Amino acid sequence: MHLTILIENTPGGAPGLVPQHGLSLLLEVRDTTVLFDMGQDGTFIGNSGQLGLDLKKVDIGILSHGHYDHGGGLAAFLEYNKHAPVYLKVGADEAFYARVLPRYRYIGLEREMLITNAERFIWIGTDTEISPGLMLITDIRKPEPLPGGNRTLLIRRQETFEPDPFLHELFLVVEERDGISIITGCGHSGILNMVYTARDRYPGRPIKAVVGGFHLTDRDTPPEEVRSIGKTLKSAGCGRVITGHCTGTRAKDILHEELGGRFAALYTGYSTEI
Ligand SMILES: [Fe+2]
Ligand SMILES: [Fe+2]
Repeated sequence: MHLTILIENTPGGAPGLVPQHGLSLLLEVRDTTVLFDMGQDGTFIGNSGQLGLDLKKVDIGILSHGHYDHGGGLAAFLEYNKHAPVYLKVGADEAFYARVLPRYRYIGLEREMLITNAERFIWIGTDTEISPGLMLITDIRKPEPLPGGNRTLLIRRQETFEPDPFLHELFLVVEERDGISIITGCGHSGILNMVYTARDRYPGRPIKAVVGGFHLTDRDTPPEEVRSIGKTLKSAGCGRVITGHCTGTRAKDILHEELGGRFAALYTGYSTEI
């Protein structure tokens, strides 16, 4: 499959591309084009034009979880592409907040937009094969603790703010002849938990790549924890680890040290064959 990063926090792809805190990636798998996450707004559409890609040809949209930096561009996408359904996990429309003391900042989706465009969304509550070889995993086994960086991320229920257990997150497994690839938005459920879940689901299949944000924020993730995750990804046989967005700069450096040539850092306009 071919992977192109339409939006990521860092520039670097080509002149004219606009980076943004968020993530949006395009996957061309056999004859199916998949848009996975859409950044904060319509910027990713402009970038796709700069890269010579036509998002009107997207067959399937996927939203990894209900945060604005992945789903803020939904309205722009639905306006631009009039036919692709968008899959998302039940609960992605809840009221999500970040604690940025002394305030709580709303970081969820535009709920009005979800209602207005209801016919475009497919809400799933269990693992779902959306096309041959494309599996959305919603039932994530969690033997490992969730990332420390989740601690300021909350759900509002009536008048109280509760820690977000991230039941609104899903990830994608792309199965090809030579193995599987794991695609995540923010990895709030824990990247190792996602790898373990995929491995259970596809026993004996090589893991070609793990792609996306791992939520290993430098402030909340001790270096030794990142190092241990790097070692585990390596011993689990992950062929390539391609990460950015909410994987901190120090975390990327440590993963690079552990994984060597298997590692790559995401940027806006990054593109590779997997
Ligand atoms: Fe997130
Ligand atoms: Fe994010």
